[in-house]
Amino acid sequence: MGTVPTRILVTGALGQIGTELVESLQNKYGHQSVISTDVRESEGCIQLDVMDAKKIEDLIQTKGITDIYHLAALLSATGEKNPDLCWKINVDGLVNVISAAKKYGCRLFSPSSIAVFGPDCPKHAPQVTGLNPTTVYGKTKVIGEHLAMSSEIDMRGLRYPGLISWKAPAGGGTTDYAVEIFHAALSEGHYNCFVREDTQLPMMYMDDAIRATLELMDTPFDSLGTSRGGYNIAGCSFTVGELVYSIQRHIPEFTCSFEPDVRQNYADSWPDSIEDDVARKEWGWIPKFDLDKIVDDMLENLK
Ligand code: NAD
Ligand code: SER
Repeated sequence: MGTVPTRILVTGALGQIGTELVESLQNKYGHQSVISTDVRESEGCIQLDVMDAKKIEDLIQTKGITDIYHLAALLSATGEKNPDLCWKINVDGLVNVISAAKKYGCRLFSPSSIAVFGPDCPKHAPQVTGLNPTTVYGKTKVIGEHLAMSSEIDMRGLRYPGLISWKAPAGGGTTDYAVEIFHAALSEGHYNCFVREDTQLPMMYMDDAIRATLELMDTPFDSLGTSRGGYNIAGCSFTVGELVYSIQRHIPEFTCSFEPDVRQNYADSWPDSIEDDVARKEWGWIPKFDLDKIVDDMLENLK
């Protein structure tokens, strides 16, 4: 008996990660093997609201889906403005996807986040520690990790740091400042940042995040241990001040002012950096982009 060819369903495909993950999956598995879906309408993308359990099942069945990359979610800033909707999409939507994956025997990738950590976590966050987030968004991600381990399917996740990329805008998170700042530096020469200059968070370039996702999904299930629902992966960690300084290597006249809003509270509740020893050991994770390399690549591409 031959192996079943990989057929992939991506939810939330029009977002910051989906825009680039779909491209990489198409390059790897062939254009026809990747079915892009999102609640928003766009050419080449099937409209799918993850609250619609029947439509998820219909698509999996009719398209012969084997693997699901579930990216549909509300991020921290948008989620805290509308906690009920955040819970609905991030938890109920995920439950719909898990049920369908279970029924049709699909593998499932569902991202977690550094938002699973709360103020009680050490500032350099270990893989295993108490998960007591203050945000509703973070709580939905903790539940996602628990479901990964209890749902009896091949379900995997990464605790993505704040992701920096140039192909699509950031989607309403606390770490959006680390993307917005590049656009503002090039267009205005100035950025008014919504967190303090000394705010330090774990960050990662999208190229590293996509590679991590593909590498995790390529790893045999038996090699993955009890962190399978949400591996810590470190990229690099820097303050906004350090980011400004790195941008000024290219644009010396760039200036940044600071006007913290409620997102400062979410940032302050998260760790400064991440310990990714388990991901390195179990599936060979190694990041490639440091701060200056990210800044060089972002400015080169956005110019
Ligand atoms: P994004 O906001 O850019 O994209 C999410 C997409 O989901 C959007 O295109 C949106 O239209 C879609 N969507 C929203 N509600 C939907 C619904 N009901 N049904 C179907 N689609 C819906 O987010 P992203 O940055 O691409 O994040 C994807 C995943 O990665 C999320 O689970 C997020 O929590 C996680 N994550 C992202 C980051 C980051 O920095 N970008 C960091 C950690 C974790
Ligand atoms: N980057 C995301 C956010 O800020 C973290 O999950 O919401």
